[in-house]
Amino acid sequence: MKQKSTDSPHDKFKSSSSNNLFFLLLLLLTNLITLFISSSLFSCSYKSLSTTVEETATIASDLPPEFLAFTSGQALPFGFNTNFDSDTIYPPAGKACTLFPDELRRYMSYKVNGSCPDDELLAQKLLLKGCEPLPRRRCRPASQPEYTEPYPLPISLWTTPSDSSVVWTAYTCKNYNCLVNRKRNEKGFSDCKDCFDLQANEKSRWARSKGGGLDFSIDEVLATKPRGSIRIGLDVGGGVATFAVRMRERNITIVTTSMNLNGPFNNFIASRGVVPLYISISQRLPFYDNTLDIVHSMHVLSNWIPTTLLHFAFFDVYRVLRPGGLFWLDHFFCVGEQLEEIYGPLIKSIGFNKLKWVVGRKLDRGPELREMYLSALLEKPLKNSW
Ligand SMILES: *[C@@H]1O[C@H](CO)[C@@H](O)[C@H](O)[C@H]1NC(C)=O
Ligand SMILES: *[C@@H]1O[C@H](CO)[C@@H](O)[C@H](O)[C@H]1NC(C)=O
Repeated sequence: MKQKSTDSPHDKFKSSSSNNLFFLLLLLLTNLITLFISSSLFSCSYKSLSTTVEETATIASDLPPEFLAFTSGQALPFGFNTNFDSDTIYPPAGKACTLFPDELRRYMSYKVNGSCPDDELLAQKLLLKGCEPLPRRRCRPASQPEYTEPYPLPISLWTTPSDSSVVWTAYTCKNYNCLVNRKRNEKGFSDCKDCFDLQANEKSRWARSKGGGLDFSIDEVLATKPRGSIRIGLDVGGGVATFAVRMRERNITIVTTSMNLNGPFNNFIASRGVVPLYISISQRLPFYDNTLDIVHSMHVLSNWIPTTLLHFAFFDVYRVLRPGGLFWLDHFFCVGEQLEEIYGPLIKSIGFNKLKWVVGRKLDRGPELREMYLSALLEKPLKNSW
């Protein structure tokens, strides 16, 4: 993990990133070769509109026909389009999808125009492994036979939704009562174990700062910018979206990315009346350059993410923030000297201005693990950010 001990932290980061760069180039090269081979393979199939799914399937017989039907080149009905610079469109699915042919076949096996299999767990695992975006399907997703309409705003923001808004198959808990009580009743680790109880810890998160520590309050963060200039943003890995709800109370619109890790996070967020975005940390953020006023992330961007992926992720945050926009990195965690040697230099190298930078010890799993937290408030420069 560590490089030569004579190196300064900066050099360490540099040398590990040049290694990474080498692998990245290698990966890119192999990708290009794959692309070249696959585009020459498919070139015969998209020339004719009448090509059937079966014909394409014989070309790459280990891939499911519905996958090929979706991803193969499709001729534009009106021919060459200057916007596309092409007469063909290739609908996207994650490049890694085809690395998992068995799961992909199960995921893409269904009756066209019928009901999809109730397979959330399979789909999410496939996505998290890198098949992101998942290919589209031509079937109807599993849903409750009797759906209950959501509570109206503003009641919905702080009320546990009806159990019948969720398909529970993928989760250990089979109702919201179980989720609300799981911090008391369930042993072991669960992602965001206490989050579903809106009357407990969620009630006070980001409401007030605990005086110079790792917990910044929303109001203290907003006070660093001209009044009203923070209007739209993103919360990466935002649990049950209490951050978005708090911001909504200040007329700020936040969309929240979340996975459904042993809980219906996306349904819950939507039921509260804020927008969930079902993408993992691997995916390019679906926003244009220089557009968002604020990006927040708590606990999720941390040392469990491969360093190269994290480097790309931080640059993507920089990309989507407008000049003058804020990146609130909330409780980033790592172990011992990782912060000084790897992550501190990495974060500082992106190009943000440092508004706040607080380091503290993470003690919840015991001091002997030497875990550290960083809470930082970073600003994309208003001038010369390019
Ligand atoms: C598709 O499914 C719907 C609902 O089951 C049915 O009404 C419709 O006729 C089907 N369409 C075709 C083309 O099979
Ligand atoms: C939010 O907007 C509403 C309607 O424009 C306004 O009445 C309210 O005062 C605003 N709240 C805040 C905290 O700015």
